[in-house]
Amino acid sequence: MANNGSILVAGAAGQLGAVGRTVTGLLLDRGLPVRAMVRREDDRAAALRAHGAEVVIGDLLEPADVYRVVSGCRRVYFGMSVSAAYLEATVTMAAVAREIGVDALVNMSQMTVSQMSIQNTTPSHQQRQHWLSEQALAWSGLPVVTIRPTMFLETFFPLAGPTVRDRGSIELPFGRGKTSPVAAADVARVVAAVLADPGPHVGRIYELTGPRSQDMHGVAREFSDARHREVTYSDISPADWERELKRAALPEHLTRHLVTMGELHRAGRYDRLTDGVERVTGRPAISVREFVSLHADEFGGRRL
Ligand SMILES: NC(=O)c1ccc[n+]([C@@H]2O[C@H](COP(=O)([O-])OP(=O)(O)OC[C@H]3O[C@@H](n4cnc5c(N)ncnc54)[C@H](OP(=O)(O)O)[C@@H]3O)[C@@H](O)[C@H]2O)c1
Repeated sequence: MANNGSILVAGAAGQLGAVGRTVTGLLLDRGLPVRAMVRREDDRAAALRAHGAEVVIGDLLEPADVYRVVSGCRRVYFGMSVSAAYLEATVTMAAVAREIGVDALVNMSQMTVSQMSIQNTTPSHQQRQHWLSEQALAWSGLPVVTIRPTMFLETFFPLAGPTVRDRGSIELPFGRGKTSPVAAADVARVVAAVLADPGPHVGRIYELTGPRSQDMHGVAREFSDARHREVTYSDISPADWERELKRAALPEHLTRHLVTMGELHRAGRYDRLTDGVERVTGRPAISVREFVSLHADEFGGRRL
């Protein structure tokens, strides 16, 4: 296939953060050609096509699929939902990108990797795989740009949405730990800016947070302001939370990742603050309050 200069966006359908889906829209809005990779033909694929993307179907764990979808593209966004085979997918993408030759590979990682080393890992295999993925991409010699966001604000949809709607409380085991969650839409703005003009970014690592690091009582106050109704924070025990996650029958890989995220919050490891979003895009990251206002329905509030 000839190099048509398209930008390949993996994981473009979107499940939780939907960074790939937002990136696709932002690049199309800039007039850039996008090949959006999805797993299956569904409404999300149709919406991407209607927006102007070339939609291709494939599995990031199938080397032949990855070769087919990357062929002809010069830039790649690599991200997929939290899954047990994340490292295999990253290395498959790296092998393909080396074979084909690309100008830039933008790799979704996690802020926690900044504090990890051989001697200091975490119990989350997702976080370990991001750490290993970054290592493998560094060895690959590819022109990589690394995106390390902290927790997405969208994580509050499943983790806080039901209790905020039902009883006006956020119930999480984060203790007094501070956190600075970032909107996936802001992460997507960074990724899109990099993909549109990767030259100045190649080799860089962007750590991305929201605009404020505060404990969960502070987060709850921003929820209250946005909802015009009181929301409180209730610190639940890590053991209770783990039991609840297990009852929800999530994949073991995801449960372990969420339990670790809770523990690291409690230990103050999410107390980070960066201006990465503003530095790359020229616009600051949105706050918890702005995010909750934008998604009032999901949190049982009303837009005034
Ligand atoms: N959530 C957070 O707080 C947070 C914070 C920092 C970093 N991150 C990182 O962000 C990434 C997730 O980004 P996101 O939330 O934007 O993704 P997402 O919306 O959860 O999903 C991305 C897409 O990946 C697709 N996918 C999964 N396995 C695939 C496979 N084998 N082949 C092809 N496609 C596949 C899914 O397709 P289907 O929908 O069809 O299944 C999904 O639509 C992860 O690397 C995570 O570690 C997340």
